[in-house]
Amino acid sequence: MLKYIAYVSRQSHVITDRALKELLEKARNNNTAIAVTGMLIYFHGSFIQYLEGEEENVDWLYSKIAKDKRHQNITELDSGFSKERAFSDWSMAFKKLQKDEAFEILGYKDLETEQLFENYQSQDEHPALSLLNNYVKNL
Ligand SMILES: Cc1cc2nc3c(=O)[nH]c(=O)nc-3n(C[C@H](O)[C@H](O)[C@H](O)COP(=O)(O)O)c2cc1C
Repeated sequence: MLKYIAYVSRQSHVITDRALKELLEKARNNNTAIAVTGMLIYFHGSFIQYLEGEEENVDWLYSKIAKDKRHQNITELDSGFSKERAFSDWSMAFKKLQKDEAFEILGYKDLETEQLFENYQSQDEHPALSLLNNYVKNL
C-alpha cells in the first residue's frame, strides 16, 4: 500500500514566481529519486500539497518539508493509504490557482480570498481539501 498525506500551509513571506519555480525543480528532482509523486497548489499565499509514495519516504519527506522556513502554520488535512497513485505521471504536479477558478470549484461567491481558509469550521470539509479534491480522485 502507498501512503498519502495532504496539508495546507501559509507562506512565511511573499514568494516570487522564480523562487517557486526553483522550489519545484528541486522538489521534482528529489521526489523522482525516492519515487514520491503528488501535487502542489499555490493559491494566494497558501500552499496545498498532496504527497504519495512508500510510507517511510512520504513520512520522511513530510517531516523535512514541515521544517521549511518558507512556510508556516502547516495543517495536516488528510492522510491514509491507497493502492494506486493519483499522480503516477507527476513527481510534483503544480497549479497556481487564481481566485475565480478556486471560487468556481468551491461554489462560493463574494468572499474575500483572505477569509477563505480562516472561515473554515472544523466540522466542514476544509476548503483546501475541497480544492485538492478537484484534482485528486482518491481523496
Ligand atoms: C510548500 C513546499 C513544498 C515542498 N515540496 C517538496 C517536495 O515535494 N519535495 C522535496 O524534496 N522538497 C520539497 N520542498 C522543499 C523542502 O522543504 C526542502 O527544502 C528540500 O527538500 C531540500 O532539498 P535538499 O535536501 O536536496 O537540499 C518543499 C518546500 C515547500 C515550502
